[in-house]
Amino acid sequence: MTADSPPPRIYLDNAATSFPKPPGVVEAVTRYLTDEGVSLGRATTRSGEETARRVSQLRTKLGQFFGAGPGDEVVFTFSGTDSLNMALHGFLKPGDHVVTTDIEHNSVLRPLEWLRQRGIAVTHVPCDSAGRVATDDIRQAIRPETRLLAVSHASNVTGTVQPIADFAELARNHGARILVDACQTAGHIPISIREAGIDFLACSGHKGLRGPLGTGVLVIARDAVPDLESFRQGGTGSHSDSPLQPAAGPDKYEAGNHNTPGLLGLAAALDWIEQEELGALHEREAAQTARLQEGLRYLPNVRVPGPEPDERVPVVSFVIEGFDSRDVASILDAEFGIEVRAGLHCAPRIHTALGTLPYGGTVRLSPGLATTDGQIDAALDAVAEIAGG
Ligand code: ALA
Repeated sequence: MTADSPPPRIYLDNAATSFPKPPGVVEAVTRYLTDEGVSLGRATTRSGEETARRVSQLRTKLGQFFGAGPGDEVVFTFSGTDSLNMALHGFLKPGDHVVTTDIEHNSVLRPLEWLRQRGIAVTHVPCDSAGRVATDDIRQAIRPETRLLAVSHASNVTGTVQPIADFAELARNHGARILVDACQTAGHIPISIREAGIDFLACSGHKGLRGPLGTGVLVIARDAVPDLESFRQGGTGSHSDSPLQPAAGPDKYEAGNHNTPGLLGLAAALDWIEQEELGALHEREAAQTARLQEGLRYLPNVRVPGPEPDERVPVVSFVIEGFDSRDVASILDAEFGIEVRAGLHCAPRIHTALGTLPYGGTVRLSPGLATTDGQIDAALDAVAEIAGG
């Protein structure tokens, strides 16, 4: 490196979007765009049917990956936010009550606020200073008219993993359904909708699942399908003579052309995850998360809100006394080539419990598949230099 050349790039923002993508993803997207190019479900050509077969195989594999059973639906959407909107707008009706939490992302908070202004009651359950939501607090928030618990599986600010099966049991015992935002957990920790008792599982395809942006998934438990209205209507390539959206999924929920190149990329990413094995990936991520958290914790002037490493997905936020977190991120990028996210992370409510509002939010580090221990140590050295002490 010469005096003027920028430092090498260290990408630690995988909680926003994973980068780089696993081997095979770019190739699958490129192959579709350069050689395949069919309109899925509309083309009855041999190549159209081959692409449809691969996308249908992805649907089956995602169902298995998320522990879905017979009759459960796997719906393709365009993002985690799209999946959450589909579930919230399609399920809730005026007069319903929803219990949600203070760790939620705006992808849950904003649709719920929009619905609140249209006659749906919403209760926000607080979290503790480590981003944990207590099952008892959820229990106390439930009312006779509660129809839905809408909860994140893990915070995108602290990485805190919530006891989702306990929440699901509570919902079931009160005749409510549960929507789980798995944007920060899918592809990081195992999830089985059947075992956990989840009715709706929403996630993006580009974070832990490591596919391209513009892909999302909504998994719907079989007996929740009749409760979920179709969020969008349009062409499906099926029952074209009917003015009505098909009543059965996935066509019930999927209208218009799919993001086919994205889905083929996601299929390659899922193949890679299965080949590497989720457990092994998780172990590696957990070791890096611990290295990062332990390293930060002992730096003077640095505070690391959140739970112990074994209660987190690979997301570690910190603040430095006397600094606005967005300035810290700018310095990390400009002077050290370290790319992170800073601010409220679209999850404004959690910062009150974390005490991080005076810092403009947190600086968030999120390692990924290409992160090395050396890069983590470089990030720790850089934070130490900024924090001084
Ligand atoms: N929701 C994403 C994040 O946490 C974009 O950064």
